[in-house]
Amino acid sequence: MNIVVGITGGIAAYKAIGVVRGFVLAGHSVQVIATEHALRFVGKPTLEAISRNTVHTDLYEGVAEVRHVALGQAADLIVIAPTTANTLAKLAAGLADDLLGNTVLASTAPVLLAPAMHTEMWQNAATVANTALLRSRGYRFIGPAVGQLTGTDSGPGRMSEPDEIVAAGLALLVPTVADLAGLRILISAGGTREPLDPVRFLGNRSSGKQGVALAEAALSRGASVTLVAAHLEVPAPAGVERHAVETAEQLRTEMNALLGGADIVIMAAAVADYRPREVAEGKIKKDATGDVLTLELVKNPDILAELAANRAPGQLVVGFAAETARSRDELLELGRTKAARKRADYLVVNRVGWTEGFATDGNTVVVLDGAGHIVIEATGSKLSVAHSILNVLAEAGRSNHQEHND
Ligand code: CTP
Repeated sequence: MNIVVGITGGIAAYKAIGVVRGFVLAGHSVQVIATEHALRFVGKPTLEAISRNTVHTDLYEGVAEVRHVALGQAADLIVIAPTTANTLAKLAAGLADDLLGNTVLASTAPVLLAPAMHTEMWQNAATVANTALLRSRGYRFIGPAVGQLTGTDSGPGRMSEPDEIVAAGLALLVPTVADLAGLRILISAGGTREPLDPVRFLGNRSSGKQGVALAEAALSRGASVTLVAAHLEVPAPAGVERHAVETAEQLRTEMNALLGGADIVIMAAAVADYRPREVAEGKIKKDATGDVLTLELVKNPDILAELAANRAPGQLVVGFAAETARSRDELLELGRTKAARKRADYLVVNRVGWTEGFATDGNTVVVLDGAGHIVIEATGSKLSVAHSILNVLAEAGRSNHQEHND
């Protein structure tokens, strides 16, 4: 989606770089509008490199393309970080004396303001009245936080942290789109458990959070969602059709049975690669096994590769790759090898380790296409990462669906 990040002239402008980067990493196209004053605090080349777009400042540039209107009309969201007391006053008055003011007036997108100023300015009656007026007109605010200000003083007025601003911005973006309406999405989530005996199993550390976040995000965008749930440590969202499974074999049976009714299949489950050759009828007893217990394991079928091979034209199949890589290059290399082996349409690669990936609330992923090319990179909460993945699938799924149903 198109996000305009407005940057106005306060010292917190340097933190706006993190805001721009957060939106870009979430898979959005970001246009930066920096005021002249903002550029005294942060350099244009930095903003251009991070946003991957030209930075707009001048109202009188690009007049032929009517840029002052075009940027606002194309925006799905406008975020102004930092918002100075002066900018708050100008917005409240509806002034359009610079490119940012014009853009805001020409837009119907939600506007999120991240104020940053000294406590006295934030508490000044004029600012209080301007804020109240803007709120009543539907402008959203994040912060200001209470904390250390530029000098030695501290109090309310500090700009919220970039991560919080990005999360608040993405949350505003989400409910406005029903771009997955009419699409049926089949998601597997959680970790499979392979029984050894009636009381023990071989499992993995998957919490199911990323798969559940995908289900939640897809539902909020209008898709109908079927969740094949192996062991989950979080509740499945209300509104999904849930099929509970334990083992890889059960997961395989369910996924194959449901494949025909899905436009998009996402294998987010952590599937056991091996299962015990034999499952003991009764509890395995130490007396009978002695000091060393040897388990014989047999390989489970690769469900993702099977689904990808059996998909009908028009169906999209998406896999995950959990890798314990030491570097980004190694991560990409492992991802590319897996993409070639699985033959899915997309592979979402994420790094896992003792402290990364599982059970955490955040995630960082690289989405590869079937040929191993990077499509997007996303970082943030598992929900915002889910939305970034769905941004890719929304486009691809819709054109596939239409092509095969016309
Ligand atoms: N997967 C699957 N069936 C399996 C193993 C994995 O469908 N028996 C799926 C997972 O759901 C995921 C993708 O394949 O979408 C990659 O899983 P991952 O554990 O990263 O890779 P593996 O294929 O198991 O390869 P390896 O363990 O050697 O990295």
